Amino acid sequence: MRIGVPKEIIEGERRVALVPKEVAKLVEAGFEVQLESGAGESSFFSDDAYKEAGASIVDGAKAAYDADVVFKVRKPEPSEVGLLKEGTVLVGFLEPLTSPQLMKQLADRKVTAVALEAVPRISRAQKMDALSSQANIAGYKAALIAANSLPKFFPMSMTAAGMIRPAKALILGVGVAGLQAIATCRRLGASVAAYDIRPATKEEVKSLGAKFIEITLEEEEELEDAGGYGKEVSEASAERQKEVLAEHIKAADIVITTAAVPGRKAPVLVEEDAVKGMKEGSVIVDLAAETGGNCRLTEAGATVVKHGVIIHGPANLVSEMPVDASSLYARNVTALFDEFVRDGQLNVDFEDEVIAGSCITHDGEVMNERVKALL
Ligand code: NAI
Repeated sequence: MRIGVPKEIIEGERRVALVPKEVAKLVEAGFEVQLESGAGESSFFSDDAYKEAGASIVDGAKAAYDADVVFKVRKPEPSEVGLLKEGTVLVGFLEPLTSPQLMKQLADRKVTAVALEAVPRISRAQKMDALSSQANIAGYKAALIAANSLPKFFPMSMTAAGMIRPAKALILGVGVAGLQAIATCRRLGASVAAYDIRPATKEEVKSLGAKFIEITLEEEEELEDAGGYGKEVSEASAERQKEVLAEHIKAADIVITTAAVPGRKAPVLVEEDAVKGMKEGSVIVDLAAETGGNCRLTEAGATVVKHGVIIHGPANLVSEMPVDASSLYARNVTALFDEFVRDGQLNVDFEDEVIAGSCITHDGEVMNERVKALL
């Protein structure tokens, strides 16, 4: 079986779907691996490093797509869809819930589309969990951005000129990214408070030495879905959250927001009035910028100063750490692909929970019920 790795073409995407270490393992397992020349360049993996690991280097996307399996980071652009051959297995962040028409197109081309974001969050699948591996990086980077642009110290500092109090950080949304942001802010010496709608996060927050903010929402409201993800809350609860959080936002020097509801626009937790209440020189890092933002004033892909507050809306933050982002992603992709192979042959067994969850299209059909409902 031949695995092809094209160069990512979306602007600003610096990751690559396979790194030499994983290539070597795949080649040893009997697969042929071909990479588009320069695919790893912006992740600091040279063509020579891939060749040494046993891959062949091909020129141009067309040649890279001439394979049985294609590993990618981002969903294919229209120009790339046309390069996929009938029967190809495509593995990547395919954004199935926000790109249902693309899924239909892939089904029509008889592509077996496997979406990393649809891998069930079960223990057995942790090594395939690219959402977590990448969110962990984003959370770390968000804390560094906050520390770098805050015009103050993070840690407490006793100097001859007086005592400097530690910066106060507030983390909104405590999934994988939020937990890493808490841990990194703590390591840098900030005092940290955090909030999430999922009550289960309280103990995790406390175990990292941060304070958990409790907000009583509408009684009996389900806050977590069957997959362990946060749910969209009622309008009344959203108002209640914003009201309570405004007081904590006012007291914070840094607010890092990571709240997300899969397949939906990000919930707004920081309204303009809350920003107005912050001290000048405070910093907001909004990791939900690309899905609409958790802060009303965020501009995706930009840093703006509003009411004296520096608001970062980074796009594709993980691409700023492409070496580790690509290495972890490559491990996730190969672990997931391994589920689809038995005795060196493709084996798409929908009885398998991981395959049933992640395989969006197969044999000319859209298989995923949530995607089907969107068509
Ligand atoms: P995510 O990126 O989908 O969302 C980030 C956080 O935002 C979540 O914790 C969510 O509860 C929170 N959120 C949503 N709406 C909110 C609101 N209105 N206000 C405040 N917070 C809000 O989450 P992520 O990081 O992908 O994790 C989702 C779940 O998956 C978690 O339960 C996590 O523990 C679980 N998980 C399980 C794994 C496993 O068992 N293999 C591995 C990684 C995560």
